[in-house]
Amino acid sequence: MKLFADLEKIIKYDEPMASHTWYKLGGPARYFITPENHDQLLEVTKRCHENNIDIYVLGGGSNMLISDNGVDGAVICLSADCFKQVEIKGDHVKAGAGVSMSSLLRETARNGLGGMECMAGIPGTVGGALKINAGGRFGDIGAMTWSVDLMDSSGYEFIWQANELYFGYRMSNITARYILGAEFKLTQDDPERIGQMIKEVWMLKKSSQPMETRSAGCVFKNPRAMSAGALIDKAGLKGTRCGGAVVSDRHANFFIAETGAKSQDVLNLIDLVRNKIIERFGVELELELQIWK
Ligand code: EPU
Repeated sequence: MKLFADLEKIIKYDEPMASHTWYKLGGPARYFITPENHDQLLEVTKRCHENNIDIYVLGGGSNMLISDNGVDGAVICLSADCFKQVEIKGDHVKAGAGVSMSSLLRETARNGLGGMECMAGIPGTVGGALKINAGGRFGDIGAMTWSVDLMDSSGYEFIWQANELYFGYRMSNITARYILGAEFKLTQDDPERIGQMIKEVWMLKKSSQPMETRSAGCVFKNPRAMSAGALIDKAGLKGTRCGGAVVSDRHANFFIAETGAKSQDVLNLIDLVRNKIIERFGVELELELQIWK
């Protein structure tokens, strides 16, 4: 019997990962699974474990680089309706892991809830944003997080409250197998004022980042008290290329994939830039980009 015989509706075989990442790069996943509810999520997890299949959880694919060889395992994506619910109660909002950050920002702003403006222009899903504590100059998602709904590999669902959560620079202490959703505490404000602030944050980003190109945002984390982009720029590496991957002229911590680029080109460019920065400044840059090799 086929491993996922009775779950065919939610399984795709050899699914090209390029169509699920902002980089539009990456070979096929052996199984690409979109569970429609918690029971199905548990069932596919169980079967993967019984058959020694590695599980990879994908959010919006906006901070990801997936190997040209693809993923030898099961990629699980919580993009079904069940994981995309938004519920507003007073100044609290609950959102499923699969809700996109941009739609959450839009919906909270429309309902006169402020506090999330710092997330303007940040792509990805609630689940992915929580996992890496996505954010920017004006704040990060951790700061407004009230609680997070989690599920472990055995299907046990539990909630971590703010006092159990730790959010650092582009990291969180969430290690549970699945982030199912979260509750955020916002502040009641004038929708027009919120809209104006979102616009300002977005414009600032647009003025310094190549937002319209194929990239995955910043490749490296900023070293303490330094900007990775500024270091790469200072080393004269803007425009440096490996195959179809090139360091952006607008912001040096963005590596753009041009037509025909391969994941390997981006990987080579990462190595080249990292080595040059060590040579030039003695600083070892740490990846912000998540890589599945
Ligand atoms: N800079 C240069 N050359 C460049 C890029 C930047 O000289 O090519 C200089 C800028 O002029 C500025 C300084 O470096 O003086 C900092 O640059 P910027 O304001 O663009 O911020 P950043 O530290 O490079 C961080 C986040 C971004 C986030 C912005 C704005 C990291 C790694 N990056 O960038 O996040 O959008 O602040 O809030 O923390 C991401 O996480 O993917 C991301 C893009």
